[in-house]
Amino acid sequence: MTATADIGVFGLGTMGSALALNLAESGFTVAVSNREAEWIDPFLVEAGPLADRLVGTPALAGFVAALATPRSILFMIPSGAPMDAMIAEIAPLLDPGDTIIDGGNADFNDTRRRAAALKDKGLHFVGMGVSGGEEGARHGPSMMVGGTDHSWTQLQPMLEAIAARFEGDPCVAHLGPDGAGHFVKTVHNGIEYADMQMISEVYGLLRDGAGQTAQSIGRLFEGWREGPLKSYLMDVSATVLSSTDRETGQPMVDVIRDQAGQKGTGRWTLIEALRMGQSASTIEAAVGARGWSSEKDMRAAAEPMLAAGALDTQMPPERDLELALLAGRILSHAQGFRILSAASGEFGWQLDLARISEIWRAGCIIRSALLDDLASAFRGELPHGHLILAPAIRTQLQEAIPALRRVLVAAVSMGVALPALSAGLAWYDTMRRARGTANLIQAQRDFFGHHGFGRLDMAGNHHGTWDEPS
Ligand code: 6PG
Repeated sequence: MTATADIGVFGLGTMGSALALNLAESGFTVAVSNREAEWIDPFLVEAGPLADRLVGTPALAGFVAALATPRSILFMIPSGAPMDAMIAEIAPLLDPGDTIIDGGNADFNDTRRRAAALKDKGLHFVGMGVSGGEEGARHGPSMMVGGTDHSWTQLQPMLEAIAARFEGDPCVAHLGPDGAGHFVKTVHNGIEYADMQMISEVYGLLRDGAGQTAQSIGRLFEGWREGPLKSYLMDVSATVLSSTDRETGQPMVDVIRDQAGQKGTGRWTLIEALRMGQSASTIEAAVGARGWSSEKDMRAAAEPMLAAGALDTQMPPERDLELALLAGRILSHAQGFRILSAASGEFGWQLDLARISEIWRAGCIIRSALLDDLASAFRGELPHGHLILAPAIRTQLQEAIPALRRVLVAAVSMGVALPALSAGLAWYDTMRRARGTANLIQAQRDFFGHHGFGRLDMAGNHHGTWDEPS
C-alpha cells in the first residue's frame, strides 16, 4: 500500500459516502473504510468512474497506511460511544501531527474532552459540523470547523473545494479550537428546529383555523419562496405540502403521524444556553413542541374533553402570515446568535458571528435570504452586539412585528397554538422595555428568603421593609 491518499473517510453511511464522493469528484484521493467491510466493494462499484480516486481499505491498519502524512481521517459514524471506541482503536496506529475529524452531530463537550485527551499524544482532533443532509454532503455542504491551526492548514484546501458556495465564497470556516465547530453546528440545529416549528405553526393555523387543504397551503408557501422568506426550509415545506401519497392518493402530509422525532441537538442547544444563563425561547418552544407531539394518545383523549373556549375572530391576511414568519425567523436567529456570543465569551473562542452567518448562506439546512441580511448586519453597525438592534433588521421588524401581533391575536382567539411564534414575540416585548417586572421577583425573594436586592437609587445589596400582611 502506498501512502498517497489525501484523506481517509471512515463510515460509509449516507453522509460518509456522499462526502467521500464529493472529495473524489473534487480531485482528491480518498481512502475509504467501514466497520462492516462488506459495504466497501458495493460503494466502489456505485462510485463509477470516481472509484479511480477511491481506495477501498477494509482493515484499519491498511486504511491508515494508505494515507499521506500528516494524515487527515474523517469519521462519519454515530456520535457518542462509537466515536470513543474508534478513537481508542485508531490512535495507536497514528503519528504525531495526524488529525482525526469527527464530522457527526457530536456534543461539543465530548469534542473538547477528546481534543484534550489526544493532544497529549501529539494528535489533533477536529469537531466539524456538516450541514445540508445527503444532497449537501454530495454536492456542497456548509461546514463548521473547530480544531487547531495545524489541522485547518491541512484541511482547508479540501474543505473549500467540496463546500457549498455563496456567490463564489466557500461555506466553510475555521471557527475556533476543539468544540467550537460542533457548538456552532448545535446552535444551527436549534435554529433549524425553531424555523421548522414556526413554519408548521403557520401551516396549523391555516389548516385548523382556516380549514385549508395541504395543497392550498403548499401553493401559498410556493408563492413565498421568492419573497423575504426565501429559504431551503420554505422550499422543502412547499414541496412536501404539495406531494401526494402514492398508496392512498391523499396529500402526503395527511398520512404522516403528527409525532416529531429528534436526535438531541435542539435539546443540547437549550441545555448549553441555560448553563450560560441564556434562554432561547423560540428554540425551547420548538423542542418542547416536539415533546408534546409525542403524547399523541393523550391528545386524542383530551380533544373531546377540553373546551377550546374560542372567541370570534377573523383569519389575518396572507401577507400577515408571511411577515409573522419573517419576524419569528429574525427573532429565533437573534436568539441563536446570542447563545453563540455567550459561548464565545465563556470558552474564549472569539467566534466570528459575521463569518458564521456567511457560511450558513448556502449548503446548510437553515440557508435563507435572511442570513445574507444578518451577515451584512454583523459587518455593519451593531448596537450592543444585538442583531435586533441593527438598523436594517430593526426596519424589517418594524413592518413584521405588527403582523406577528395580528396573527397571534387571531390564533389565540381561535385556540390554535403557536408556541414558538408567541415565545419569539414575548422575548421581543421583554427586550424592548427598559423597565421589566423582575423588581417584584426580587421583592418576593427577599420577603421569603432574605436574598436581598439592588436598588435603583443606591449601590449595594439591600433588604426590604415589608408591612404586616393585612
Ligand atoms: C443538517 C441537519 C442534520 C440533522 C437533521 C435531523 O444540518 O444537515 O441538522 O444534521 O441530523 O436535521 O435532526 P433531528 O433528528 O434532531 O431533527
